[in-house]
Amino acid sequence: MHYWRALLGTATFTGAVNASDWLFLPTGAMLRFSCSELVVERLDPVVFPGVAPSPHLHQVSGGDAFNVTMNTSVHDIPSTATCTTCTPLDDFSNYWTAVLFFRAQNGTFKRVNTIGDGLGFNASNGGQTVYYLTNGSVTAFAPGFRMTVGNPSFKTAAQLEEYPLLFFTCLENPWTRNAGTTQFPNTTCAGGIMATIRFPTCWNGVDLDSADHQSHTAYPS
Ligand SMILES: *[C@@H]1O[C@H](CO)[C@@H](O)[C@H](O)[C@H]1NC(C)=O
Ligand SMILES: *[C@@H]1O[C@H](CO)[C@@H](O)[C@H](O)[C@H]1NC(C)=O
Ligand SMILES: *[C@@H]1O[C@H](CO)[C@@H](O)[C@H](O)[C@H]1NC(C)=O
Ligand SMILES: *[C@@H]1O[C@H](CO)[C@@H](O)[C@H](O)[C@H]1NC(C)=O
Ligand SMILES: *[C@@H]1O[C@H](CO)[C@@H](O)[C@H](O)[C@H]1NC(C)=O
Ligand SMILES: *[C@@H]1O[C@H](CO)[C@@H](O)[C@H](O)[C@H]1NC(C)=O
Repeated sequence: MHYWRALLGTATFTGAVNASDWLFLPTGAMLRFSCSELVVERLDPVVFPGVAPSPHLHQVSGGDAFNVTMNTSVHDIPSTATCTTCTPLDDFSNYWTAVLFFRAQNGTFKRVNTIGDGLGFNASNGGQTVYYLTNGSVTAFAPGFRMTVGNPSFKTAAQLEEYPLLFFTCLENPWTRNAGTTQFPNTTCAGGIMATIRFPTCWNGVDLDSADHQSHTAYPS
């Protein structure tokens, strides 16, 4: 059995972090916490707002304000949410990802569970481990900021190379850390498969979103 640790395909973030907690981190600080699975369902308020069901199934983590549409003009996440699956109880953000299926030789599909990160989060109910990394001063996301990584239409390993910071690690145990591969692992992974998605750290400073939900952000060059 392969366990699916975190993320696949398209990862989406919609920000609703209460600013006060995140503003005063010292230089080089890192936040690392777990967000258990909130729900698995066909909704995607960023890429397919208002479309129920959305074309793709997602695993969603985070606050209970998650909804079929999340227009920040009318849907204020921090004041709408009342609870979260994230361990910092005031992170009402939502984080959602594609869902992995196992195809049996007889052609049937079975959804693969996620499990908590073995380094500290065994108690998590699936979901993902979230990192916030900083190299200097920290400011909160502007209300309504959103971004995605990945492309759900990609079918080939060559296409996946467009996102080198979305990669898979075939875990022997929870401590396995190597370069990872953009291709899906093709061997048995005794400790599970870890998917890592690094989001861009640069923003054009103007647009909270863009048509492809990506071009208003960039990786440092
Ligand atoms: C969630 O979406 C439904 C359908 O659009 C709407 O009726 C409901 O008010 C929304 N809930 C919140 C908390 O925004
Ligand atoms: C969000 O809501 C505002 C206020 O109702 C509306 O003017 C705007 O068009 C909505 N945006 C989207 C993307 O639906
Ligand atoms: C297909 O294979 C899976 C995995 O071995 C098994 O759980 C399932 O019952 C099988 N389905 C059918 C219709 O034989
Ligand atoms: C968490 O799970 C991993 C993998 O099963 C195990 O190696 C580790 O000892 C566990 N940690 C704790 C604190 O139980
Ligand atoms: C971190 O910030 C320092 C000072 O601004 C800079 O010299 C350094 O290159 C940065 N490191 C990274 C990884 O961005
Ligand atoms: C298995 O994956 C490795 C690492 O991505 C790759 O180098 C190798 O070509 C793959 N083997 C096959 C048979 O696909």
